[in-house]
Amino acid sequence: MNKQRGFIGAISNYKGGTGKTVTSVSLSAILAIKGKKVLLVDNDPQSDSTRALIQDQSVIENCMYDLLDPDSEKKPNLQDCIYPTIHSNLDILPNISETSGLEIPLSIKFPESNYTLRNQIYDYVTNYYDYILIDCPPTLSVFVSNALYCADFVMIPMMAGSGNSLEGIKGVLELMESVKQGGNPNLKFLKILINKIDKRKSAHKANMANAERRFGKEKIFTSTIPTSSDFETIEAMRKTTIFSYSPGSKGSVAFRKLSVEFLKFFETAKKAEG
Ligand SMILES: Nc1ncnc2c1ncn2[C@@H]1O[C@H](COP(=O)(O)OP(=O)(O)OP(=O)(O)O)[C@@H](O)[C@H]1O
Ligand SMILES: [Mg+2]
Repeated sequence: MNKQRGFIGAISNYKGGTGKTVTSVSLSAILAIKGKKVLLVDNDPQSDSTRALIQDQSVIENCMYDLLDPDSEKKPNLQDCIYPTIHSNLDILPNISETSGLEIPLSIKFPESNYTLRNQIYDYVTNYYDYILIDCPPTLSVFVSNALYCADFVMIPMMAGSGNSLEGIKGVLELMESVKQGGNPNLKFLKILINKIDKRKSAHKANMANAERRFGKEKIFTSTIPTSSDFETIEAMRKTTIFSYSPGSKGSVAFRKLSVEFLKFFETAKKAEG
């Protein structure tokens, strides 16, 4: 990882609903609150991160669609595809549902289209931001390979109570291997984040033990995210982030703790590079 530039991380799991968007939005927000310059890239046509961080969707004139469309005549500057959010230091590159229609055109141009996102954003965003988090869809599609070809690291949220989300991790790790061999050899598997945990439940404990056995304890963040109805409330009420809605809540505390562990990892990596 190059310490002179910002770090790009893909937040991915092949399995749906594991907390990719909650992690992308909440971790981006707390890093920004701590003074880092952060960009959240919404790489999912479901556009959940976009809805979380941009309340009035009508302001979006340019977005991920325009950057990925292989046949686009509209060629906006990248800066015109990036929007501020309520948290100073946190910007978003939004997405729209129409982007799902680009999956086939992009897949046909395979393998060159794997580099579309990297070619469009890498130089600018790694110069301008400290951290760039890419919220991925629950697929192993061309959108996810675009994110992995662009990224320095991959972080994988898994649901504490779901054995299936362990299978989703396997899918991402296999795709990572092919991306490493295909042209992004420095891509790193950062860690797994255990989400929606209820430590009283034996199924959750068994699943965590299983994850530790399969991937190694050092590949799992010590910080975990508890089940909290605040995340669903924010989504339903169209509020923005856990830090603006309920800064003292257990969800906020958990993401603050995660941010300490996350930043420590990158600060250590920078020091090791001298
Ligand atoms: N720790 C948590 N406690 C309670 N609810 C949560 C928690 N994390 C996520 N959720 C809720 O679970 C649902 C799925 O979370 P999220 O959208 O972050 O998952 P995802 O992996 O991005 O889903 P998808 O695969 O569809 O993109 C959402 O309704 C979200 O509000
Ligand atoms: Mg999502």
